[in-house]
Amino acid sequence: MINPFKLGARQAVFLLDPERAHALTLTGIGTGLLPRACHASDPRLAVTLAGLSFANPLGVAAGLDKNGEAIDGLFGLGFGHVEVGTVTPKPQPGNPKPRLFRLVADEAVINRMGFNNEGHEALAANVARAKRRGVLGINIGANKTSEDRIADYVAGTTRFAAMADYLTVNISSPNTPGLRNLQARSELATLLSRVLEARAAATAQPPVFLKIAPDLDQAELDDVAAEVLAQKLDGIIVSNTTLARDGLRSAKLAGEAGGLSGAPLFERSTAVLAGMRQRLGPDMAIIGVGGVSTGARALEKIRAGADLVQIYSGMVYEGPKLISDGLSAMVAALEKAGAGNLRALRDESVAEWAAKRF
Ligand code: FNR
Repeated sequence: MINPFKLGARQAVFLLDPERAHALTLTGIGTGLLPRACHASDPRLAVTLAGLSFANPLGVAAGLDKNGEAIDGLFGLGFGHVEVGTVTPKPQPGNPKPRLFRLVADEAVINRMGFNNEGHEALAANVARAKRRGVLGINIGANKTSEDRIADYVAGTTRFAAMADYLTVNISSPNTPGLRNLQARSELATLLSRVLEARAAATAQPPVFLKIAPDLDQAELDDVAAEVLAQKLDGIIVSNTTLARDGLRSAKLAGEAGGLSGAPLFERSTAVLAGMRQRLGPDMAIIGVGGVSTGARALEKIRAGADLVQIYSGMVYEGPKLISDGLSAMVAALEKAGAGNLRALRDESVAEWAAKRF
């Protein structure tokens, strides 16, 4: 089927510097002028997870709306959930520009934004104004210059526990030096226990998810899984961007420092997702993200073990039609299987994906 975004708007948007294009697109979405996805409310697509009810499994990945400026417009596109942030306690400018690159031949993006955001209070004000017609996740992080990074995650938990439907602890951005070290077992144990303590002391107790990198090796994944289970965390998001650069066509930009996302991330992030489903068992909530560039790939994340699926870079290349493509692929698979909900399709390809190594 024809994708009007690819025929018209995309050429215009791609003439602009990527960061300018992103800001304009977000403003456009914020106005709510774009069309709603079909299938967005087919009851067979509803998912109940970690005590939350999602109208459908597709969500916006963190980083697209760091300050919560377009929450209602993003729900209006047909997403069942929107994850805003990463937000840090204090506002910070992020890394020097340019820091966002389109690798068009690869349908990929490299970013080294470095958590540019307006801080806790600005996000809280935007969230308070939003109508929130769906599940709202708030993704929390640490300031680059913070002397106690764990304290920043505790502050995020305390500030947003009563506002968020779920919280995401993001320790997998490659663009804040040293941040990914929090994924090591002893650091992770301290971080998660302090975040969970802060949640217990807050006025509300939303589920807490951990977002991990796709670059962890098998032993590191064992450690993360053991800690997530030991601390009884509510779920995990797999994955953030990768430092790997295998098989890229855009040779000129492939050498830019930062995290790679989009189509080339699909295999690696899906293999890690399936490996985590095997380690964490059937009852842990898992959100699959990375390289969803077609409707079939959104469905494949579920078959590889995801309960929910998030998208970022695919929206840059495919536009909002990717949402209806993903939901249509899921409805078609449900009909083919004669199944009443997506849980019946989940895990079909876990073993196959988990066996892949990168
Ligand atoms: C991101 N991502 C991200 N993740 C996160 O947890 N906090 C953040 O602030 C950001 N910021 C961010 C900025 C930009 C420009 C991009 C492209 C990505 C990562 C994102 O949420 C997602 O995990 C990856 O991009 C993989 O998914 P896609 O893009 O391949 O669908």
